[in-house]
Formats: sequence, C-alpha cells, structure tokens
Amino acid sequence: MIVAIDGPAGAGKSSVARALAARLGFKYLDTGAMYRALTWLALHEGVPLDDGPALEALAAANPVGFGVDGGVSIAGRDVTRQIREPEIDAAVPVVARHPEVRVVMRERQRELGRSGDSVIEGRDIGVVVAPDAEVKVWLVADPTVRARRRHAEREGADPDELAAELRRRDERDAVNTHQAPDAVELDTTDLTLGEVVERVAGLVADVR
Ligand code: DC
Repeated sequence: MIVAIDGPAGAGKSSVARALAARLGFKYLDTGAMYRALTWLALHEGVPLDDGPALEALAAANPVGFGVDGGVSIAGRDVTRQIREPEIDAAVPVVARHPEVRVVMRERQRELGRSGDSVIEGRDIGVVVAPDAEVKVWLVADPTVRARRRHAEREGADPDELAAELRRRDERDAVNTHQAPDAVELDTTDLTLGEVVERVAGLVADVR
C-alpha cells in the first residue's frame, strides 16, 4: 500500500510521514531529500543548475540512497546534514524544475514505492508519482505557523526573513506542487503531530 503525503514546505509533511511510517511499520520515502541530494552533488561537481540534460545524466548515474537510520547518501557520500543547509534550500527548486530530472527521480521513486508498503512524502506524489496510492493526504498550515516551524529548525534565524523565504519557495515550488483531487486535506495549524498522525492512521485503517 502507498500513503501519499503532499503539501507545501512547513506544513508538517516530514514529521508526519516519518512518524506514520514508524507507527505502521511502513517504509518512509522523502522525495524532497532526493532532489536535495542531487542539488548538493551538482554544486559539489560544478554542474550548472540551468543545464537540464547534464543534471539528468548526473541523476541517472547517481541514485540517491536511504539508510535504515534515515541517512541520505549520493555518490558514496553521506549528505544527510549538508542537504538541509540554506544553500541547498535556495538552489533545489531550480534543479527540481527540470522535466528531465523529474523523469529520472519519479522512476526511482516508483521503484522504491513498489518494494513494499510505503509512506511517500513530496509535492507531486498523489498526482504524478503514485496516482493509484490508496491513501492521499494534502497537508496545509497557516503561513505564520509554517514559518515558526522552520524557525524552530533553524536556531538564530530571523523569523521575518524565514517567512519571506517561505513565500519565495512557495512561488518557486508551485509549478511542481499538485493537490490531488481525491486527497484528504488536513490543516495542521492547530493540531499536534500526534493528532495529525492519528487522523492519517485512521484513513489508512479505513482502506485496509
Ligand atoms: O520538501 P523539501 O523542502 O525537502 O523539498 C525540496 C525541494 O524539492 C523543493 O524545492 C520541492 C522539490 N520537490 C519536488 O519538486 N517534488 C517532490 N516530490 C519533492 C520535492
């Protein structure tokens, strides 16, 4: 079974998807981490971020690896920490926008999703990667709360600057962020992580 969790940055996708996968004993796939790892490699190897075919070749030759501990690796390097740096935040929408790159990534995401019960987190899972997913959830949250969540992850950052950055990212990611018409929308603004996980687990129980 596939549980697709989509939504904008800061809506709670990662925390919810990870906790849900642990609770259900499903695999957890963070598709954003795949685009982040490719972006890290492109910067590391000096591949121009506007060169779609070169990025496609880089992605095809360097599948992203996920460790059992949640670690992310590419080209033999553990990049778990590096892919969360602001430099990657800024560059990743540019890389993720290339259609050639998305084809390679989606193929790999489908392959990983087929290998067992999975919770897949991203922007286009319910619409493009896994349109047949048994459960689809679209997470949203109030922009102020989303910025506050980012702030909690980034010690010392200016909250106003984080809110502005979130708005910029929303605009840049909009082209690849799709709400499936059959997704259940959940507003996480006033819910705890436990409450959101409980609700999604309820949706899974309904279809099992
Ligand atoms: O969710 P995140 O911030 O880790 O995502 C990183 C980037 O990858 C962001 O620019 C959105 C993009 N992305 C995408 O285009 N499609 C996905 N399925 C997942 C993420």
